Amino acid sequence: MNDRFKMDEAQPRLLDSTGQGIIGTEMDRPDGRLKVCGAAPYAAEFAADRMAHGVLVRATVSKGRVLALNDESIREMPGFLGLFHDGTMLRNSAQGMAGEAPVQPGLRVDYHGQSVAVVVAETFEQARDAAQQLAVRFEAAEEVEVDPETAEAIELDEDSSEQFGDLEAAMAEAVHTVDSVYTTPGHVSAAMEPHASLAEWHEGNLSLHGSYQMLRFNKKELADSLGVDADRVRILAPFVGGGFGSKLGIGAEAVAAAVAARELDRPVRVVMARQQVFDCVLRRTETRQRLRLAADEDGRLSGVGHEDRISQLPEESFGEPTATATHFMYGGKNRLYRKEIARIHRTPSGSVRAPGEAVGMLGLEGAMDELAEVCGIDPVELRLRNIPDTHPETGKPYSSRSLAECLKQGASQFGWENRPAAGSRREGQWYIGCGVASAARSNSLVRADARVTLSADGAIVETDLTDIGTGSYAILTQIAAEMLGLPASKVTTRLGDTDLPGASGSGGSFGAGSTGSAVFLAAKKIRARLAEKLGCDVDSLTLKDGVARGGNVEKPLRDLCVEPICEEAGITAGKLGDDYEQASFGAHFAEVAVHADSGEVRVRRMLGVFAAGRILNVKTARSQCIGGMVWGIGSALMEELGHDPRTGHIITRDLANYHIASNADVPLIDVHFIEERDDQSNPIQSKAIGELSISGAGAAVVNAIYNACGVRIRAFPATPDKVV
Ligand code: MOS
Repeated sequence: MNDRFKMDEAQPRLLDSTGQGIIGTEMDRPDGRLKVCGAAPYAAEFAADRMAHGVLVRATVSKGRVLALNDESIREMPGFLGLFHDGTMLRNSAQGMAGEAPVQPGLRVDYHGQSVAVVVAETFEQARDAAQQLAVRFEAAEEVEVDPETAEAIELDEDSSEQFGDLEAAMAEAVHTVDSVYTTPGHVSAAMEPHASLAEWHEGNLSLHGSYQMLRFNKKELADSLGVDADRVRILAPFVGGGFGSKLGIGAEAVAAAVAARELDRPVRVVMARQQVFDCVLRRTETRQRLRLAADEDGRLSGVGHEDRISQLPEESFGEPTATATHFMYGGKNRLYRKEIARIHRTPSGSVRAPGEAVGMLGLEGAMDELAEVCGIDPVELRLRNIPDTHPETGKPYSSRSLAECLKQGASQFGWENRPAAGSRREGQWYIGCGVASAARSNSLVRADARVTLSADGAIVETDLTDIGTGSYAILTQIAAEMLGLPASKVTTRLGDTDLPGASGSGGSFGAGSTGSAVFLAAKKIRARLAEKLGCDVDSLTLKDGVARGGNVEKPLRDLCVEPICEEAGITAGKLGDDYEQASFGAHFAEVAVHADSGEVRVRRMLGVFAAGRILNVKTARSQCIGGMVWGIGSALMEELGHDPRTGHIITRDLANYHIASNADVPLIDVHFIEERDDQSNPIQSKAIGELSISGAGAAVVNAIYNACGVRIRAFPATPDKVV
């Protein structure tokens, strides 16, 4: 049905020459007003006639199995409708884009808090009460490993372990070296909207209102979990209150709602409580990272080593790709990577915003700061000196890379040259210091399809992409408006419904580039149809202010589409841009104050400069960047998942105990973009932005702590006890 995109057909600069001035601007979100008025419905706000309510029942042992699970203890409770455990399907997927059911442990328990059943009743309160009263008998394993530091089940991840040259020799010969261990704690996504699903069956077809990021894949995962054909499943997620990875894969609440609704033959809604989200969705693994850097007299790297240990449940395939950025950031011939996975019984670890770079760059960029110190070279200058010409391992060129420009412009805007000598600036009880770190996030493209229909009333964009708070509604509207010569108010974008053409989904920072390209290509086909109708060459066609011009002809656009023109287009990753290394880059600068007596750290200002190809909407892009930098402050200073050492159960399982950066912790954050056009990334020349700005941000903060008071933080987060 769709023509697949080939780069030579791209007319890469078309968006620069359409001349509407809509693309890239600070257009408000079309969905913004609905959201702030409470008129945008989230998953738990949908209701249905005769709807029943389900509450998940979870395991209270860390490893073992369910011995007895029946409704005897709750059968007579008011409103009780049923207990469903099917025994196969109530575990969250740790994997996004799997397209198949999550690991199905049956009645086996792999972690404390795992979902094992759902209790359904007439009201939510009745269901919750019954779930709490339900007597479940578990058999607990005698031995269970829950701590990655002491675990014996350590597996070498061969695919992520490799070497180039001889790092040991490089370390022995180097003039300057760093050999440090960095640790980062577990994190969670804690999206504002907890996971929720409403399932309704009609003649063997399931319709599910859920909160998911990757609908095209989620539909298949859900169908596979239920043992039905994917054609019989429709997922609707018009608004999603944040995901950050936690909604990449289908979850227990969706499968539970669907199973119960099928059995009861009535709609069932299952909403996770905040503590359930913490316990049984997924976490970002803690990491232990050994960073080794070898450099010559001038700070030029001759070797880089990044060895890490992460943790994951047995059987789960996702492994935090900690060293992703280390592969492509800096030069040095001798390189070593080694990855260990501790197979322990904690909540499955999965993707949390910028899996890989978000925590891996805390190690790398901290080690680079240490190297600057031992070399006596300014940390900005050290980074500039080590930007390689081509990828240090593959030898491929970078499709576009403005890292040096980001560092230089950031240094200038931040006033870096006034940075105090370490430990030299004090204001009363506060030490003041500044830090820098590079940012980077790899770029990718995922299959996406979209449909654009142009009629006399305007245009409609349709695709099952989600808007997880990122601005999908805005940027897709802008792309279509720009291409079709319409004001944005004449374009309606419909998202979040698997009955629409399948999109890339929102994940891995590829949503805007991938699905935006599909919309661009569909609109481009409409331009070709209009040129044909106008009788002009498509290259001479201009569409502006509702008028089509080409050759010597000119016509109102609406006269050309009395019959609506509908086109669908798709993009596949294929070999697109394969000859290039692709990533977005940036630079973070932070100024902190450290209290001399208490060790309290306050971030006083922060500045980020980013280069991510074409910026599709400056406002939503800036919001993304601010959000990532706020998260950087959180990972530097406070975010830390705590586990009960006996059971592995998460103990910081609400937002009172899991500390995130809140308004009082966040200073004014200054964000700037360096405009790029990346002709290799995709037809709209954009690159990854959603996860760029969390990557490296926390390192700038702890590097600033070192500059302020001489305390080097290698164990995140930098809580006062470690700083004082
Ligand atoms: Mo992202 S962690 O791929 O939503």
